[in-house]
Amino acid sequence: MASFLPIQSSFFPLFFATTILLVFCNVCFSNAQPTSSSRPQGLVLPVTKDGSALQYLTSIMQSTPLVSESLVVDLAGEYLWVDCENGYVSSSNRTLNCFGRECSKLQLSSRACLHKPAQPRYKSFMGCLVFPSNKLPGGNFTSGYLTSDVVSTQSCINGSTTGPYVTARKFSFGCGSTSLLKGLANGVKGMAGFGPFGVSVPSQLSSAFRIPRVFAMCLPSSTSSKGVIFIGGGPYKMQPGIDLSTSFTYTPFYTNATAYYSSEYHIRVKSITVCGKKVPVDGDSLDNGFIKSANINTMIPYTVLRTSIYNAFSSIFIEKAKSLNITRMASVAPFGVCFDSKNMISTRLGALVPEINLVLHTDRVVWRIFGSNSMVQVSDKVSCLGFVDGGNEACLVIGGNQLEDNLLEFNLAKMRLGFTTTLGRQTTCSNFNFKI
Ligand SMILES: *[C@@H]1O[C@H](CO)[C@@H](O)[C@H](O)[C@H]1NC(C)=O
Ligand SMILES: *[C@@H]1O[C@H](CO)[C@@H](O)[C@H](O)[C@H]1NC(C)=O
Ligand SMILES: *[C@@H]1O[C@H](CO)[C@@H](O)[C@H](O)[C@H]1NC(C)=O
Ligand SMILES: *[C@@H]1O[C@H](CO)[C@@H](O)[C@H](O)[C@H]1NC(C)=O
Ligand SMILES: *[C@@H]1O[C@H](CO)[C@@H](O)[C@H](O)[C@H]1NC(C)=O
Repeated sequence: MASFLPIQSSFFPLFFATTILLVFCNVCFSNAQPTSSSRPQGLVLPVTKDGSALQYLTSIMQSTPLVSESLVVDLAGEYLWVDCENGYVSSSNRTLNCFGRECSKLQLSSRACLHKPAQPRYKSFMGCLVFPSNKLPGGNFTSGYLTSDVVSTQSCINGSTTGPYVTARKFSFGCGSTSLLKGLANGVKGMAGFGPFGVSVPSQLSSAFRIPRVFAMCLPSSTSSKGVIFIGGGPYKMQPGIDLSTSFTYTPFYTNATAYYSSEYHIRVKSITVCGKKVPVDGDSLDNGFIKSANINTMIPYTVLRTSIYNAFSSIFIEKAKSLNITRMASVAPFGVCFDSKNMISTRLGALVPEINLVLHTDRVVWRIFGSNSMVQVSDKVSCLGFVDGGNEACLVIGGNQLEDNLLEFNLAKMRLGFTTTLGRQTTCSNFNFKI
């Protein structure tokens, strides 16, 4: 639909088209900066746990008119995508230009340029093509344009309660298709990526509202209560007035931008201990003295260990459990090690079982895992060690069960992870005061 182009001389259309392109690019650079209605102290998003899919869900208001959309939280996701094929109705959505600023923030391997037919006015328009993916093992991906639209979330007041909704007018997301929802929790419309990259949910919201590039995630352990994700930094106050930001332990995180579609938070894990006994790790699973490519992923319900590490780890756990008089029982899939619940003493930190420690970048920095996070109750009588054998793939991927009721703060500017447990502190991840 370039019918406004005057066809007067042979050089003129070319000149004119070039000018349009330049003007267009300028317009699109200045517009690409997300704009917002007001500047909040911070933002909060609710998180719930879906008990059958074992996924964590958040919700964001999107499009014109605004509609609340349920999305799977993907800590390692590069951006947000929604199913644009079914039920997405908006009068404010725009396809983003391939040469624009938002598109250039994506990892090189996850974008391409594609001419978009029927784009009004600009025949030469190249859309920013992305490849939204379902992220479950064996999950599919499709292609779609990076699109911008209005989003709205609740603001946070003093780190302790919700304030009014605030709106970002140009939030970028990938347009996915209905087939990508296969295996995701019932009712969701897509996935919300929280990865350490420029177009992830926290990066875009931080820049839209000019708040610090920091977010903190507190996943609930129960399916009947709401956890919280804070964007914009602390304090993080849970009822009855406990500020969790005062008790963080910190470790640096790393990204691996060379890997295709990879946007995980990698951390350095020197060793794993059970009741103080070090789990032997074969040289093949080590890289410079640290467990190879250890990372955190909310799309994995239970921490995955490479077979060699899993076997060594579980035999030490079984031996230590035996000395606590905890009796082993037949395994219940997907777990390989299960116990009789009746001789487990319950404490404020969960069942009294051998304590698991992840020794991080130095010996002094330790992530302690207590019964609440190490065990999974599979029936009245049986509790299993909530770690699974990952075959010969990843060495260590920390999954959801080990993250629940812990507050994890990802500082994207400092590339630093802060972590603290709510266990034994008269509060949980479900104690944020969502007024509405
Ligand atoms: C905007 O969304 C509508 C559905 O409401 C869709 O038909 C249209 O193609 C979308 N436009 C862009 C530019 O993505
Ligand atoms: C993945 O999607 C493509 C097309 O988008 C389809 O042809 C293919 O069958 C899908 N694969 C699976 C395993 O669903
Ligand atoms: C936030 O903190 C300020 C200063 O301490 C206080 O005056 C205000 O009432 C607090 N607001 C809420 C909603 O807690
Ligand atoms: C980064 O990813 C590449 C490609 O998958 C891999 O070869 C490399 O070992 C990874 N580096 C780290 C530090 O994980
Ligand atoms: C385990 O059971 C034995 C025999 O009943 C008892 O002597 C021992 O004290 C128990 N140990 C623990 C740690 O409870």
